[in-house]
Amino acid sequence: MTYVHAAQLADVPSGGVLAVEIDGQEVALVRDGDDVYALRDECSHASIPLSEGDVEGCEIECWLHGSRFDVRTGKPVNLPATEAVPTYPTQIEGDAVLVDLSGTNTAQELNAHGNA
Ligand code: FES
Repeated sequence: MTYVHAAQLADVPSGGVLAVEIDGQEVALVRDGDDVYALRDECSHASIPLSEGDVEGCEIECWLHGSRFDVRTGKPVNLPATEAVPTYPTQIEGDAVLVDLSGTNTAQELNAHGNA
């Protein structure tokens, strides 16, 4: 596990999202209260940046067709998206948000369960 600095905690709006790039990977950081979640910044339906959508609690909505994703699991909660978006473990260290890109739960693994 390799946690790398992703952002300053203060830069992730409470109840909102911040788009960052970590090692060439677009990542959306979503803050819900004291918790920050990281997921690939790309809708699984048509490659739209999820960070351009609205956050409501633990869900982020893709603005194009309205699929919402649970930021804790990456799973879509409504159509048209059916595939999960990879999520990454996060840590808060002082004022910094750290993300471990190698610790992703793969979309395949999630979908194997979700679409069974
Ligand atoms: S592109 Fe995101 S729901 Fe269609």
